[in-house]
Amino acid sequence: MTFYITTPIYYVNDVPHLGHAYTTIVADALARFHRMRGEPTRFLTGTDEHGQKVEEAARKRGLSNQAFVDEVAPRFQEAWTKLDITNDDFIRTTDARHKAFVTDLWQRLHAAGTLSLNTYQGWYCVGCEAFYTESQLEKADDGAWRCPTHKRAVDWVDKERSWFFNLERFAQPLLDHIAANPGFIQPEAYRNEVVSFLRGGLRDLSVSRTSFGWGVPVPTPDPEGQQHVMYVWLDALSNYMSALGDEGSPLRQQFWPAVHLLGKDILRFHAVYWPAFLLAAGLPLPQTILCHGWWTVRGEKISKSLPATRIAPLALAGALAEGNPHGFDLGNDAMRYYLLREVPLGNDGDFTFESLFARYNAELANDLGNLVNRTLAMLAKLGGEHPPASHDRFDGDGAHAQLLAATTKAVDDAGAAFTAFAPSRALEAIWTLVREANKYIDATQPWRLARTGADANQVAHVLFRLRDAILVIGHLASPVLPHATRQMRAWFGDASEPRWPGSTEVELGATLAAGTWAAPADARPLFPRLDDDRQAAIVAAIAGDAAVTSTPAGAPTAIAAAAPEAPAAGPTIAFADFARAELRVGRVTSAAVVPKAKKLLHLTVDLGEAAPRSIVAGIAEAYTTDALVGRQVIVVANLEPATIRGIRSEGMILAAGDDAIVGLSALDRDVAPGTRVR
Ligand code: ME8
Ligand code: MG
Repeated sequence: MTFYITTPIYYVNDVPHLGHAYTTIVADALARFHRMRGEPTRFLTGTDEHGQKVEEAARKRGLSNQAFVDEVAPRFQEAWTKLDITNDDFIRTTDARHKAFVTDLWQRLHAAGTLSLNTYQGWYCVGCEAFYTESQLEKADDGAWRCPTHKRAVDWVDKERSWFFNLERFAQPLLDHIAANPGFIQPEAYRNEVVSFLRGGLRDLSVSRTSFGWGVPVPTPDPEGQQHVMYVWLDALSNYMSALGDEGSPLRQQFWPAVHLLGKDILRFHAVYWPAFLLAAGLPLPQTILCHGWWTVRGEKISKSLPATRIAPLALAGALAEGNPHGFDLGNDAMRYYLLREVPLGNDGDFTFESLFARYNAELANDLGNLVNRTLAMLAKLGGEHPPASHDRFDGDGAHAQLLAATTKAVDDAGAAFTAFAPSRALEAIWTLVREANKYIDATQPWRLARTGADANQVAHVLFRLRDAILVIGHLASPVLPHATRQMRAWFGDASEPRWPGSTEVELGATLAAGTWAAPADARPLFPRLDDDRQAAIVAAIAGDAAVTSTPAGAPTAIAAAAPEAPAAGPTIAFADFARAELRVGRVTSAAVVPKAKKLLHLTVDLGEAAPRSIVAGIAEAYTTDALVGRQVIVVANLEPATIRGIRSEGMILAAGDDAIVGLSALDRDVAPGTRVR
């Protein structure tokens, strides 16, 4: 198996913000994971340098187009280098190799009879570099049509001569391909979105422009002698293939088809236009279109056009690293951890300092930090007399067996999650092991064991198992925390490169020399706790830099929505009355319609118990089954079971709506199923 992952090529006129960093970091973590598995891996990113938007930016700067892009493209390259992104190649659409490929692609499309000349008239958003119909636009207060994404007025393109690509004829072939390859567009919600778009029928696409010149020239002569440049999306999408070289090249042979990671803003270009171009040209399709949601700040999409939302990733990583004895790289790791853990891939996520600090302190400083530091302290005190050694006879028993099982499970679950493009779930699985290892210390009490003169082998065994669990964590978490895990492994005497252990090969420490671990004094915390002062300093650094308007105290913000009027209050209840309701976090694992009941859905919901609960919910008019699977909800877990339409219902899901359901209870972050809500 080989693995080829790409990010969008970012518009060169922008500066990298947290949204770009998110995509690039997800791709980086997935690439690191596949490399650890020993799979030949290639990771591509780059910059999108043609088009009207770039031409306008160059003109404003008083530079030639080429001089302008040469000046700004390095901003992305440099940012990724500083963030230790492990891309194997960086493509620019102004590269000669790229232009040659696009020219060839055009000729293929032309030879296949999919291009024809006509006249385009309609709206164009330079921000999106996309054509729009009025029904897709918003009307501004002054009556002008504006783009719903960029909130800027669209341009009227008046009867411009244009080459059209016969997109319409590819709707059915694409629907067939999606049906035959269920993993082609992921996660599933986005596949459904594309399918309904395709079912609505496609209109032919204008793929050249004559009114400006910054693009790849169209090679086919226009009978009227007009000079066309290629539509920037046709040009840009081709980067994924042009970067591998032409058809016979070894890279193309080895690595195509690709996994394309991208944000939902550009799903249609990737899931419809790009595959249609490839089909038309007789070229093989990508393997997977992997779509993620948007990061927002106070509900507004992070974007160039909304300055209040911009967060500079280098500034954030730097601020998180301020005061960290291990420097910038650990701030970078903390940022990576937050971005990948906080939001299941595909969902939108709201960036808040509150959630960032909460995860940092609870999961990095406490859970992981304590495990590492407690273990080093024990090795220092007890390890001389009881060098870590495995004694199988203990493993059958309670705590030992539990830790061993948890270790194997973490290897399997995290591996499956990374393979399924779910880094948040992978981290959840790894942190289950982190917590189990902490529990193991509490359960075995090695200090007491040593003091009470219990079987010396048992102390050695506990130290062995513990160090082993840490080494496993130190490999498993390395796609997301490359620096922290390298340091951790080194402290425990493991200088090897990250690799993915087999699930039955968890005794990583077995091959290490007996006495190789760091003194606790040398092991300064990887993630020192962020106290109130440090938190305030981070907020000041980022908010000052990027005009982010949130504070940890949740102070009023420029973008905050007006509070709705409070409904009249009813009679009060005592806390004890409320406490009788057992509310728990659940995750919907399946959803099905209930025949002949138009309001009801039959769900199974994971509450962290041995088996998921069967729950009948009256939400069918507000939610499709697809929209529910994977979602977190709040469940009344101790409601008396009932039978509804012959189906047993073992709980109730909290939802909003006086009469019809208008919204479902949800959490603002991913929480383990079964967690109590109060
Ligand atoms: O669209 N949340 O480039 P672009 C999450 N050049 N991800 C975000 C984000 C946010 N708020 N904002 C941006 C273009 N992104 C074209 C692409 S590809 C052939 C051409 C990320 O600079 C996300 O990956 O506008 C999104 O799809 C991409 O940046 C858009 O980058
Ligand atoms: Mg954009």
